[in-house]
Amino acid sequence: MSLSSLLLMILASLWLESAVAQKVTQAKPAILAQEKEAVTLDCTYDTSAASYSLLWYKQLNTGEMIFLIRQDSYGQQNATQGRYSLNFQKARKSINLVISVLQLEDSAVYFCTLREDTVRGLA
Ligand SMILES: *[C@@H]1O[C@H](CO)[C@@H](O)[C@H](O)[C@H]1NC(C)=O
Repeated sequence: MSLSSLLLMILASLWLESAVAQKVTQAKPAILAQEKEAVTLDCTYDTSAASYSLLWYKQLNTGEMIFLIRQDSYGQQNATQGRYSLNFQKARKSINLVISVLQLEDSAVYFCTLREDTVRGLA
């Protein structure tokens, strides 16, 4: 196979806006894929908040974090943004990111983050 390969890494991350400890976990630490393919980056989380948001970021070589796509817990459909789409399974607490038609610049570290809505979480 002579196609160039891309290495995508998923890291679980926590950008908490509340004091309560929450969890985000990665299923696979790294994915090797070919250009033009589609990949699914898995992420599961744990929260007891009534309302929350899940955000995916991409980290550049420079360390800069680029926001990609967001899903609110009350969202009635999967968010999509360009080549990025989400598969949000609220009951399973899973939020997978699908990147379609991979390009070389997709080779990066990806972060799945959980952001609680603390105000509504207290209600
Ligand atoms: C997202 O898509 C998956 C697969 O089609 C579906 O099972 C799930 O219910 C969808 N989630 C939302 C919030 O629509």
